[in-house]
Amino acid sequence: MQSAIKNIQHATLDLLTDRIGRITDYREANKILYGLSGINSFFRHQEDFSTMLEFLKPSYVVCEGSDRREYGDYQTPPELSDSIWLHLKAEGISPDVIIEPTFGKGSFIISSLKYFQEIRKIYGIEIHEPYYWQTKFAILELFIHGSLINKPDIYLYHDNIFKFDFKEITASSEDGDILILGNPPWVTNSELGSLNSGNLPEKSNLKSLNGLDAITGKGNFDICEYVILMMLKSFPKCKGHLAMLTKNSVIRNLIYDLPSMKYGIGSMTAFKIDAKKYFNAAVEASLFKCSLDGNDKDISCRCKVSSFISPQSIKNTFGWVNGKFVSDTVLYEHNKKYDGVSPFIWRQGIKHDCSNVMELEMLPNSKYRNGFGQETDIEDELIYGLIKSSDLNSPVITQLRKYVIVTQRMIGESTTYIEYKFPKLHQYLTENKHHFDQRKSSIYKNKPLFSIFGVGEYSFKPYKVAISGLYKRSTFSLILPVNGKPLMLDDTCYHLGFDNITETVFVWAILNSVHVQELLAAITFLDAKRPYTKDVLMRLDINQVACDMTYEEIAAQIESLDKAMLVNVNENKWITFREQFTNVKDKEGDQPSLFACQKGVGV
Ligand SMILES: C[S@@+](CC[C@H](N)C(=O)[O-])C[C@H]1O[C@@H](n2cnc3c(N)ncnc32)[C@H](O)[C@@H]1O
Repeated sequence: MQSAIKNIQHATLDLLTDRIGRITDYREANKILYGLSGINSFFRHQEDFSTMLEFLKPSYVVCEGSDRREYGDYQTPPELSDSIWLHLKAEGISPDVIIEPTFGKGSFIISSLKYFQEIRKIYGIEIHEPYYWQTKFAILELFIHGSLINKPDIYLYHDNIFKFDFKEITASSEDGDILILGNPPWVTNSELGSLNSGNLPEKSNLKSLNGLDAITGKGNFDICEYVILMMLKSFPKCKGHLAMLTKNSVIRNLIYDLPSMKYGIGSMTAFKIDAKKYFNAAVEASLFKCSLDGNDKDISCRCKVSSFISPQSIKNTFGWVNGKFVSDTVLYEHNKKYDGVSPFIWRQGIKHDCSNVMELEMLPNSKYRNGFGQETDIEDELIYGLIKSSDLNSPVITQLRKYVIVTQRMIGESTTYIEYKFPKLHQYLTENKHHFDQRKSSIYKNKPLFSIFGVGEYSFKPYKVAISGLYKRSTFSLILPVNGKPLMLDDTCYHLGFDNITETVFVWAILNSVHVQELLAAITFLDAKRPYTKDVLMRLDINQVACDMTYEEIAAQIESLDKAMLVNVNENKWITFREQFTNVKDKEGDQPSLFACQKGVGV
């Protein structure tokens, strides 16, 4: 089929793109092609049709070459910019000044000329010169061949937005109704770092992050966010709207920062779009729309979530509720009682950044094989069963796929003991030292040889309750020791460790209760790279949930998870469990337990 498609005339391809390019079901496409040609079942199956659609995809959808990566180049297809304009029109937005901060091939500018008659001025900036010219010619052709009546003054600048001086545009726009519109670059500052690119504003730390946040990843955000912030700062007194296509994570960050940043924006809505279809990008993205009128400022700092397909139906609202950031304000209202402070400290699993050496599989001959496929004969003592995110797929974990070498019991501990206590392991690690030396993260600098992170006495607790940080699944798994040895978790997981199985089973049941599960649904963002973080888990007020659960309820919960675990519990143990934590310090002493329901102390 592909070779046949290559011989189709351009005019036919254009027609096909127009008629079937937006259809997803091959049967619907077949009906249209039957109407055109009389051929039945033009596409035999969905696969035929998908191949055709791939071919019809305009080249501008694809990010153009690796050298454009630093410019976050994902051009908006005209069909999308057209429907965004029509959508804005339906929402009653009728600007007389348009500002497109990074106009690319000009989709938004061209759509605005096609659909809006009231526009007086259009301003656009673009760094890539070929796009700058392409947009100019496209506008020219539109006027030569089209039947456009309105001819606004158009100012296009080939410039770097981060160096551009908006003062003149701001001054000439203050009395107008403006629309800041576009699709700023899709690239993060850490990607720019690895590309050695300087496509950043001079004051790149716009959000005044500290060094630790920069290391932990909180400092990694999209250039698009910079662009939106710049626009909000450049047009503080203007009336009108901002409508930007961007990743959902960018919108979340904006709303998160609203209380402290005071941008004076209101009526915020995120209309989800199909980023895979329009940009061939595996991210969740939306059209973020807000009003710019300072008087209409939304002090609640909340954003409605809808979809571009059915904009009138509001799926949920996220943002701030009584000083807490939540993903679903309505669901949160029903469960906010349990949003407090966890009485236990959640821990991230072991981090070593050297999986081919440190992670092993056990062979039938009880020897181990590393990630390079090499068989190795080493002492068992420092080898533990390893649970990864993908293993946390059932209420109780009984199967082991992997093992991990645990070289330290606490961060920074000397590793010299390995040489004389476990000579075979020492030889194995030494032979692979160059792999450890290649670890890029600064956390390993000036640390003992073969150092690991995310390790402490808590790692060696026999019983654990764990959740994957990466998966959408919100349920918690119970991890039991295997052959008398505790299991370790990798750094994609979070866990609590206990010495006693009864306590563990109770905590596991509480975390899987409807109270905690609903609270998690109300405070987590499932489209985030890591929906479950230590910050989120530390908000789970386990003791408050325990206060509200009877023994019958907790037993029913355990039974629903794994009936066999009921042997570890009874009513007296439940009462003792609830009592014993009152004002007891966390075993590591770094946080007091807040388990205080018996005394009626709210947290
Ligand atoms: C995601 S594309 C979108 C283009 C256009 N707004 C659209 O909707 O099709 C981002 C555009 O930003 C441009 N760009 C990247 N960095 C820029 C900068 N520092 N100044 C101006 N434009 C920039 C890129 O060349 C690219 O055309």
